[in-house]
Amino acid sequence: MSRIAYVNGQYRPMRDAVVNIEDRGYQFSDGIYEVCEIRGGRIVDMPRHLARLQRSLSELRIAMPMPLASLEVVIHEVVRRNRVNYGIVYLQISRGVARRDHAFPSPAVRPSVVVTARSLNLEKNEATASHGIKVITTAENRWPRVDIKSISLLPNVLAKQQAREQGAYEAWFVDRDGFVTEGASSNAWIITKDGIVVTRSADAGILPGITRTVLTEVLAALQIRLEVRPFTPQEAYEAAEAFVTACSQIVMPVVAIDGKPVGGGQPGPIALKLRQHFHQFSAFS
Ligand code: PDD
Repeated sequence: MSRIAYVNGQYRPMRDAVVNIEDRGYQFSDGIYEVCEIRGGRIVDMPRHLARLQRSLSELRIAMPMPLASLEVVIHEVVRRNRVNYGIVYLQISRGVARRDHAFPSPAVRPSVVVTARSLNLEKNEATASHGIKVITTAENRWPRVDIKSISLLPNVLAKQQAREQGAYEAWFVDRDGFVTEGASSNAWIITKDGIVVTRSADAGILPGITRTVLTEVLAALQIRLEVRPFTPQEAYEAAEAFVTACSQIVMPVVAIDGKPVGGGQPGPIALKLRQHFHQFSAFS
């Protein structure tokens, strides 16, 4: 079955799904995106993802291309047409197509909308979680507006590649003050030897992850203490557990940081418990 993409009002086979070469997303990374998990054919926490999408658009002064309800219909339709039971849906909106000029097109052009969906292997992801992943640390070199989910991801791409070349799955950025900000495509967490879960505040330096927000609710319900504060790589090396969160990974245990085993090099019990309970706190649509 060929995959189907939604591109500016049309559902097209992937091979015919094209955007203009003067799309500002292509030329300037002038756009935003969202990724949602699909589980049981339904979208996980879509309202929260769409609220973040609206915020990203408004921060970049890109107009909402269609009413929210229509966007929801498109998302569902792309998932349905691709028959995705477990996987991800990807949504990208750019400022639109215009002759190349850095400043915004005037008059404004219609934003470009692309939605794709693809299946992922649930068993494989569970197997990865049961073994845990390795992370490396690398110097933070992104712009200060990482709270916007922009498609401008070059530092993230380079950091992820650096991780892969060092046999790791994720890279954690470390800011000038020596604190971990977040992963190249995930939020970063540790659990102290006293069982306190620690993650950085979403006020600055990180993308406010939807998985991160939902997990704070899971922690409260399970009466697990949360400290919202930054931590250093050194504190992470000595932590009882570590993990990352992202919609495509939920709670993914970290078993080594910079080649140093964390928590005896095994996924931690609290991280696994949080992973197990996570979807009881998600909204499905
Ligand atoms: N990444 N931080 C960064 C830099 C991210 O790219 C992501 C998600 C997150 C976690 O956000 P959420 O919990 O809302 O998925 C944090 C997506 C999955 C991606 O780029 O593919």
